[in-house]
Amino acid sequence: MEERLQKILAQAGVASRRKCEELILAGKVQVNGETVTVLGTKADPATDTITVAGKNIGAEQKLYLLFNKPKGVITSASDPHGRKIVTDYLKGIKERVYPVGRLDYDTEGLLLLTNDGEFAHLLTHPKHHVPKTYLATVKGVPHGTELDKLKKGIMLEDGMTAPAEVEYHDVDPDNKQATISITIHEGRNRQVRRMFEAIGHPVTRLKRISFGNLFLGTLKRGVYRHLTKNEVDNLRQSAVVAGGKKQH
Ligand code: URA
Repeated sequence: MEERLQKILAQAGVASRRKCEELILAGKVQVNGETVTVLGTKADPATDTITVAGKNIGAEQKLYLLFNKPKGVITSASDPHGRKIVTDYLKGIKERVYPVGRLDYDTEGLLLLTNDGEFAHLLTHPKHHVPKTYLATVKGVPHGTELDKLKKGIMLEDGMTAPAEVEYHDVDPDNKQATISITIHEGRNRQVRRMFEAIGHPVTRLKRISFGNLFLGTLKRGVYRHLTKNEVDNLRQSAVVAGGKKQH
């Protein structure tokens, strides 16, 4: 099927759509050996040979994986220190997939991986506010008024957080700890850990249990599954809807 060149390039994971437009304008893109510099030119990735700076982008199959990341694994395609990386767990996947956003080394749970650059960009763009829910086990049992601060938004060193949905999941006063369910609509670095730190209850365990309308469910730790076409379509849709909605 013919599509606009910048869309094909972005979907192939070359770069964001905007960057791909720049590559086209800079004369770096060829279709069947001809340099194309006009934005909006169409091509068919299944039948045309498309190259960027001489490299064939091919007609790669799109993969969308939901992975249950164990703690102690790096969300990265390589690690100079030889630690375990998420792609170590993707036996049987030949395509080069990369994570949609990231989870800290010590965070476990739902991580999406794909080779569809445009999809990844859509879901991680700050404008789209895709909700992400975590179970955070914290030191001590936070008071309702402390959780209210997280619900309203709290000042961190990089600014106020957007309002979050926060609920008690499990309270264990004997062990002086509690597990709190928290849904955030942003994706700042170590955000959940920093939010609980800010109310004096550091996180001892953090697990992401949902992303948009996807749930980790009973998927075993260290195991992945392919998303269904419906799940991919719904996620795309939810990113667009969430992006169009004003924050609280
Ligand atoms: N917030 C964190 O603090 N860590 C994560 O890995 C994800 C969200």
